Amino acid sequence: MNLAKKDFIIGFLIAVTVVSGIITLILSIVEVQNVLLPASIKYGIVFDAGSSHTSLYIYQWPADKENDTGIVSQVHTCAVKGSGISSYVDNPSQAGESLKTCLDEALTIIPCKKQMETPVLLGATAGMRLLREQNNTQANQILDEVSKSIKQYPLDFHGAYILSGNEEGSLGWVTVNYLLDSFVKYSFTEEWIHPNPDQTLGALDLGGASTQITFHPSGAIEDTDTKMFFRLYGYNYKVYTHSYLCYGQDQALKMLLANLTKENNFSSSINHPCYATGYSQTISLKDIYNSPCVSAPPSNNPAQNITVNGTGDPAECKSAIDKLFNFSACGTSKMCTFNGVYQPPVHGQFYAFSAFYYTFSFFNLTSGQSLGIVNETIWNFCTEEWTKVEVKFPQENVIRLRDYCFSGLYILTLLLDGYKFNDQTWTNIYFRKKAGNADIGWTLGYMLNLTNMILSEAPVTVKGHNSSIWAAALFFIALSIAAGLIALPLFWWLQNKSLRF
Ligand SMILES: *[C@@H]1O[C@H](CO)[C@@H](O)[C@H](O)[C@H]1NC(C)=O
Repeated sequence: MNLAKKDFIIGFLIAVTVVSGIITLILSIVEVQNVLLPASIKYGIVFDAGSSHTSLYIYQWPADKENDTGIVSQVHTCAVKGSGISSYVDNPSQAGESLKTCLDEALTIIPCKKQMETPVLLGATAGMRLLREQNNTQANQILDEVSKSIKQYPLDFHGAYILSGNEEGSLGWVTVNYLLDSFVKYSFTEEWIHPNPDQTLGALDLGGASTQITFHPSGAIEDTDTKMFFRLYGYNYKVYTHSYLCYGQDQALKMLLANLTKENNFSSSINHPCYATGYSQTISLKDIYNSPCVSAPPSNNPAQNITVNGTGDPAECKSAIDKLFNFSACGTSKMCTFNGVYQPPVHGQFYAFSAFYYTFSFFNLTSGQSLGIVNETIWNFCTEEWTKVEVKFPQENVIRLRDYCFSGLYILTLLLDGYKFNDQTWTNIYFRKKAGNADIGWTLGYMLNLTNMILSEAPVTVKGHNSSIWAAALFFIALSIAAGLIALPLFWWLQNKSLRF
């Protein structure tokens, strides 16, 4: 072998080794950076302005995974002090003021340099829907004031709106199914797959002033007012949704109380079968008749106070609750709940959250108890004397404690007689507060929708790209090791050979 050829081989092998080594190094750095450097985090804030109170939710997600399902997590919640924004009719600016403590708190959680790009939205529900019905000007004033207040913060304000009942219901459905990854799943074959729409979960939401039912029915939806369309990750969903204004637990209890005062001819002392024996409270008629959910009392009726005495009678309470529903308005139609509202038969599994959950959680009935046990537990509670109840649950808010008997029986009536769940379909209802690490409600769905974070088309797969980088890296690592293994002995051998010349 002549010297030039030998030099050429050595040079070539060293070059291959060096080049492939460098490429390997670069690829490894790229990979290591992907793994080690935290992906940029984004934040979002939603105010849930309910009828009885307002809450703030802070969400976060990795920026590079923005459009994947199930990656948004809840980092913080803040309960706004005071009652719902709809109660500030006489002092709208105070409604805005009330949000500030929670906004200040949010700024301590979201890093400074992320604040300007953090979307913040406020959604108001049935409390404001009722106020708008009573006095549109007052409702707008309150929305203006809360907007003014939020705009003072270095955040990206996306508006304050009153959600329609259909929006509220269907956004709760989006939240549940987003958190449970029901829209897309990443399969072993590295493709996005769509679970069957039948496997999406229905959503049952009970608030203070309204209640919502939303699900994917097995058949057609005949009433277009109850139909909502979504195109999510390349797949069409049509869900049935209906919101019953005034059928939230606070307004329902108010309607019941109004009925009791009427049935007793506005007598100054009345019995309340849903309150425990021994409980007594004096309330003004004005406080009962201040809502569009109850029809006005006769005008010749003097403003007066009424003493309400609990009788702890679940059978009477149940029949008083039944009177809140007009079941005969459905006639012979099977596709009907009450008050003539259309509904296809309930289908699939359901998550029941907010007050459905809180009430059942109080009764320890959230682990799939049978209807028999549920009935028995609630009826037993209703018959307990108030003094005993108070001693048994010293931590509980007194008003809530007083209302649990009503709430328990009301929920059973709504789900069974209203929505027509039965012994079998009852077992498809899961009473839940959270899915993953986020609270279930419409707020997350609202943020996802208004920030366009839910894709209407299937996401592109990024995993395939990553694995090809790995394949390339492995190939070059193998190549450089092989080149090194060949080059060294060869170099040595040639070196020795040349010495003999
Ligand atoms: C989603 O957002 C759009 C505006 O971007 C709005 O028109 C639509 O009503 C929202 N959908 C729901 C269910 O709230």
